[in-house]
Amino acid sequence: MRYAIQARGLVKRYGATKALDGVDLEVPQGRLLGVLGPNGAGKTTAVRILATLLRPDGGRAEVGGFDVVRQAHQARSLIGLTGQYAAVDEALTGMENLGMIGRLLGMTRPAAKARAAELLDRFGLSDAGGRAAKTFSGGMRRRLDLAASLVGRPQVLFLDEPTTGLDPRSRTDLWGVVRGLQSEGVTVLLTTQYLEEADQLAEDIVVFDHGKVIAEGTPDELKARTGAQILEVRPVHAGHLGLVSSVVADVLGVTPDLTGGTAVAGVQDPAVVPAIVRRLDDLGVVAAELSLRRSSLDEVFLALTGHRADDETTDETAKAAQEVAA
Ligand SMILES: Nc1ncnc2c1ncn2[C@@H]1O[C@H](COP(=O)(O)OP(=O)(O)O)[C@@H](O)[C@H]1O
Ligand SMILES: [Mg+2]
Repeated sequence: MRYAIQARGLVKRYGATKALDGVDLEVPQGRLLGVLGPNGAGKTTAVRILATLLRPDGGRAEVGGFDVVRQAHQARSLIGLTGQYAAVDEALTGMENLGMIGRLLGMTRPAAKARAAELLDRFGLSDAGGRAAKTFSGGMRRRLDLAASLVGRPQVLFLDEPTTGLDPRSRTDLWGVVRGLQSEGVTVLLTTQYLEEADQLAEDIVVFDHGKVIAEGTPDELKARTGAQILEVRPVHAGHLGLVSSVVADVLGVTPDLTGGTAVAGVQDPAVVPAIVRRLDDLGVVAAELSLRRSSLDEVFLALTGHRADDETTDETAKAAQEVAA
């Protein structure tokens, strides 16, 4: 199998922090790999190394068969990158932003203009194309940013948290655009903090935590490790929690978490829920809340790592505070 992206043993240190601690990953040509992980897991560091913007301290990586350090120039010619923060020029119009990139890539003026118009149309920005980017909504900016990374028709596209901070509608719009790229055979590496996003888009997922790959597989394989859905049962009488726990454990075969007076457990097969309801009814246990929902990234994380994803936010917040203070 030919890999569009291949990395072995990537290491990157920042002082005492190991941003990457021996990461292996591969993306077959034309596939979409989702890199899922909380803040600070090392996603952006990996993307920057693979996109030739940052040198690793150890390990090696290739894009399209070109070494990202020794053959950075060749690798770069295949790559498109959309960062976590929109990088469009605020003062220029949508058309000017894209046209300028085309010119920088060596296109003739008419060719650059035609490519810009084509991309604006494809991203639903034709009407707004003549307006300065500073008047765009967050979702429009991200689409423009993504369009900008596509001007040069990259074979390999890196999307670093493309939907973080977007409203649900803009997020769904962007997912549609990414699916379109997938159908055209572009290889995509997309980072996200959202299990749902990886689930919607990724054919394969690797989970990062503390600079390491801690799990990999298809979305279904990954969710099967925690249960595809989460059952929550909170009895009206707190004293009944023990009974709830034993019924849930008995039916599901896993011991529920009881934090906060609610029994919480992963469910592989939602068809077992009526059995739980009947057993509780027989025991005279009344539920104040009984719900089934999709497992969140947090729960996948908890199951995989034994800690919650948002533990990480503490050092991110500290870092942001240091940056503000500096
Ligand atoms: N330029 C930098 N200087 C110091 N530490 C950094 C730098 N970039 C990233 N880090 C640290 O490396 C770790 C991984 O960061 P990053 O790759 O940005 O994670 P993610 O994109 O998953 O949120 C974090 O602990 C972060 O604070
Ligand atoms: Mg990041």
